Amino acid sequence: MTADAHKRVAILISGGGSNMVRLVESMKGDHPARPVLVLANSADAGGLDKAHKMGVATAVVDHRPYKGDRPAFEAELMQVIDAAEPDILCLAGFMRILTDGFTNHYAGRMLNIHPSLLPKYRGLHTHARAIEAGETQAGCTVHEVTAELDDGPILGQARVPILAGDTPDSLAARVLKQEHLLYPHALRRFASGDRSRQDLEPDLAT
Ligand code: GRF
Repeated sequence: MTADAHKRVAILISGGGSNMVRLVESMKGDHPARPVLVLANSADAGGLDKAHKMGVATAVVDHRPYKGDRPAFEAELMQVIDAAEPDILCLAGFMRILTDGFTNHYAGRMLNIHPSLLPKYRGLHTHARAIEAGETQAGCTVHEVTAELDDGPILGQARVPILAGDTPDSLAARVLKQEHLLYPHALRRFASGDRSRQDLEPDLAT
């Protein structure tokens, strides 16, 4: 496959970028896509250095100077992203709520990973809320992004047990392991044109 036939992927992060690292590592060999940009909304995002070390171009668009003016922040964001000409956007721990102006601009080609079994527990503090509600299972979801927060067609889920004595941190660590398997799996299928849902086998290992 010649280089330009690959789908071009931009990954948006806000923090350490462990999902971003798994996505970049997966896009090799016969994978239909290649990473072209890792962008963060803060220069302090630990994932930027990891991306740089893996040879992926990086950029920062800081939301703070915009003082809550989302459309203005997103105008710069779209300018920087579109300069890289991505076919697909992956939100990987990108902690900004996006307007429908942004989600419409990338409609049908933007994915997100969320640390719950959507549609349950949209928003933040998903693990604490699942434990508090007495759930027996938790997990993560990869979905296409639409204007509705943590909504959109589901591409896949992975489940883990919630164990006696679990804290939000211990549960988050167990779910994160599944995120690192689910997101590359879903991206490979999405980049090859398969937008159907495919869940991972539940990992009931403790
Ligand atoms: C992940 O748990 C993801 O589901 C959530 O934010 C976290 C980001 O982790 N949206 P990382 O930066 O990929 O390590």
